[in-house]
Amino acid sequence: MGSNNAEDHVFGTRVLPVTTTDLGHFENQDTLEKWILPTAGLESLEEAASHLKHTSIPVGFPTETVYGLGADATRSDAVTGIYKAKGRPSDNPLIIHVCDLTMLGSLLSSPSPGHSSAVDPVPEIYKPLIKAFWPGPLTILLPNPEPSKLAPEVTAGLSSFGLRMPSSPLALSLIQLAGVPLAAPSANASTKPSPTTAQHVLHDLDGTIEIILDGGPCQVGVESTVVDGLCDPPVVLRPGGVSIDRIRECKGWGDVVKGYKDASEVGNQAPRAPGMKYKHYSPKAKVVLFEASPQSPSILGIPTEAWKIMSALAKKTDHMGYESMEKTPLIGIVSTRHWPVTGGFEGVKWGWDNEEGVTKIIRRRPLDASSNLQMKRGEFWRGVSFPESGELPSDTDVHIADIVTVSLGNETKDIAHGLFSALRELDQRGVDVIYVEGIEDEGDIAAAVMNRLRKAASIIERVHT
Ligand code: TXA
Ligand code: MG
Repeated sequence: MGSNNAEDHVFGTRVLPVTTTDLGHFENQDTLEKWILPTAGLESLEEAASHLKHTSIPVGFPTETVYGLGADATRSDAVTGIYKAKGRPSDNPLIIHVCDLTMLGSLLSSPSPGHSSAVDPVPEIYKPLIKAFWPGPLTILLPNPEPSKLAPEVTAGLSSFGLRMPSSPLALSLIQLAGVPLAAPSANASTKPSPTTAQHVLHDLDGTIEIILDGGPCQVGVESTVVDGLCDPPVVLRPGGVSIDRIRECKGWGDVVKGYKDASEVGNQAPRAPGMKYKHYSPKAKVVLFEASPQSPSILGIPTEAWKIMSALAKKTDHMGYESMEKTPLIGIVSTRHWPVTGGFEGVKWGWDNEEGVTKIIRRRPLDASSNLQMKRGEFWRGVSFPESGELPSDTDVHIADIVTVSLGNETKDIAHGLFSALRELDQRGVDVIYVEGIEDEGDIAAAVMNRLRKAASIIERVHT
């Protein structure tokens, strides 16, 4: 029954490696007018491009930000295929990707007679941004011309559309070969963290698309910054790979404002009722985010959390479902700048049934992880005392939890690069909760990292000093 319904189809999804190092170049890097394809090594890209031209099944492909799910932006059936594959609500507009300014020009030029194609259709306000940040992780909103070459499904009924020129040569060559602008959202299943490797895309979309191009891990790791320069003052709609500080330096953008909620507008404790919140970037596990603050460079909240878990387990008091957990919980810890790799769980002292207790992480061992993440696994024990040497706990010690730790490093760039991967890796290992060490988000791309984390979090903790 219903076997000819397109939604019943299950595709054999293939991951096509792209190993060529020469993936093309701009004829003139200053004008960005024409992207030139290399002469050899494009087999996988050609297959994907042909698929984009002749079918309505989208293709997974890498950009420098995250993997995208691309389709011919001029064809309704192809664009509809994106919404279907992702399970994305069709009122959420898509970003258009072009390979050069020639392609952008032909998209914006009016086909009606009397209009000279010599008139530059790109609004002046965007010129300094294009000069500074393209090709790269910046999306600009443009007025959709009337009539438009874009399929109406792309803009979700809005009078503007988002457009960018990615810097990934693989993406640029794919677009050039397809010969049309590609509409592409991030290639995750709706609500999940964005994919930064081909394996992430396969995990979410296996069976729903046919081709994923594998160009290795994405360099930036968070999505493009989305800006609207069609209003006054101009607005950053989504923080991303280009920081607001750098945008502010551009002519005409000095008084750019944030059009998204930042830290000061996020409540102290923000446990949002499920359903009240539009879920985004969320792994299966609950995310508890610890906000960084200038007053508290080292975050001391984790031991408090550990204490709450232990109390909940021992005394059956209500805390995030731990009170009724049958198994030993598995806790994920994502550390960035200040937390020790075990998130401060180790060596916490407290009174317990009138005895001095101490916690210890034992048997830490490295785990394999993608994207050069450093992951380790260990057991979290509480005891009266642990032998100075030798790791084995005694009979009276209590095995509280198992932990998997991920260290993203100190540099904002590395934190952005590894963030989505870390959330996905922890999910795949079946953790029950993820504690994340937030970073300060003053003006740089840390704003993008914290924006994604706040959306992923079920609980946001602030540490007061
Ligand atoms: O880095 C990126 O931008 C990635 C890669 C694949 O290029 N793409 C991406 O697309 O993140 P997506 O669909 O996951 O996010 C697009 C964002 C959404 O927040 C959407 O609401 C906004 O851009 N957007 C797109 N068109 C818009 C428009 N006309 N007006 C306002 N917002 C728009
Ligand atoms: Mg997305």
